[in-house]
Amino acid sequence: MLRQQDVGHRIVVRRIVGIRDGRPLFSDALGELVELSETYLTLATEKGNLRVPVAQVHRAKRVPPTRRPTAAAVVALERAADEAWPAPTRGRLGDWLLRSAEGWTGRANSALPIGDPDRPLPAAVDAVETWYAERGQPAIINTPLPLAAPVGAELDERGWTTRPPTLVQTAPLPLPDAAPPAASTAHRAADGNGGGAADGNGASAVVELAAAPSEEWLAIAAGRKGGLPEAARHVLTAVDQVRFAHVYANGTLVAIGRGTVTGQGRWLGLSLIEVLPAVRRQGLAHRVIDSLAEWGASVGATHAFLQVEQRNAAAVALYRRLGFTTHHTYLTRVAPH
Ligand SMILES: CC(C)(COP(=O)(O)OP(=O)(O)OC[C@H]1O[C@@H](n2cnc3c(N)ncnc32)[C@H](O)[C@@H]1OP(=O)(O)O)[C@@H](O)C(=O)NCCC(=O)NCCS
Repeated sequence: MLRQQDVGHRIVVRRIVGIRDGRPLFSDALGELVELSETYLTLATEKGNLRVPVAQVHRAKRVPPTRRPTAAAVVALERAADEAWPAPTRGRLGDWLLRSAEGWTGRANSALPIGDPDRPLPAAVDAVETWYAERGQPAIINTPLPLAAPVGAELDERGWTTRPPTLVQTAPLPLPDAAPPAASTAHRAADGNGGGAADGNGASAVVELAAAPSEEWLAIAAGRKGGLPEAARHVLTAVDQVRFAHVYANGTLVAIGRGTVTGQGRWLGLSLIEVLPAVRRQGLAHRVIDSLAEWGASVGATHAFLQVEQRNAAAVALYRRLGFTTHHTYLTRVAPH
């Protein structure tokens, strides 16, 4: 049967759709699992979303994605993602990257084990442990799958723990399900009291795209990510092509997002998409992403990517609705204390 770990993955469901002559009639459905509760599951099929009561499910299992990305594609995207979230302190072990940013976010404080570390695997993991110990930080390694599965096996043997999986999702630009054209985007420096309004209809909200984040924007980011050390400003701003989305309602910032273009100009990266709880489900996140996608496409990006925790059901549903699919996943592995 299915588990929460299957959310975001392709599955096939055989369900009972009726009874004839005392025998069950079955129907199969194939698609991406977008939601799983105790009573029903939601499957994104080619024909749209299908909600199936769990009581009707005869059998269900995960199936491989239609097209697995090549190892080279995973490496290219992981490198574009690293450029989009640049840790100020960096080291190398052969091709592997070592990253540190005063502990601000897992990604910027983890090793990325792709390529050749120029030494046997156990020695490479020893070197990662030493590098982080020298900085007084826990050793963390992000293992993109299936590429870094051998690294994962070595970490299993050493008793490293595993955080919940992260989905790396992509969509071609322009996004297939853009919001209605009533929406508008303002390109100007954020001044903290922009004129946009969230009026219960997110599609009419004005999204301001600024080259730098306002202090209010940083405060929301700090609330989400747990503080904002100096290194965090570097991670957020030290990218040549970057925009910070601001949506205001009555002078208060209510929704934010960040877009970057990296990977030789190909990849729009979306991060810190956040809407204040009081104004969720009004289409604001959709608008923010549309605006960043328009900007990304206008400067030449052909695809968008983002990273989302598999267990973040709201965000996974949002991205699915916008046409994103899972490119690959990664696991965050943490050394035992
Ligand atoms: C995820 C988040 C950004 C969504 O913002 P939002 O403004 O409420 O999203 P939208 O109103 O634009 O939603 C658009 C569509 O996404 C899907 N969606 C959004 N939130 C959902 C939820 N809680 N459950 C199911 N589907 C959801 C729906 O399809 C929705 O369309 P609908 O309302 O017509 O059904 C918001 O919940 C949030 O800020 N969460 C905390 C921060 C976070 O997790 N950010 C993402 C990090 S990767």
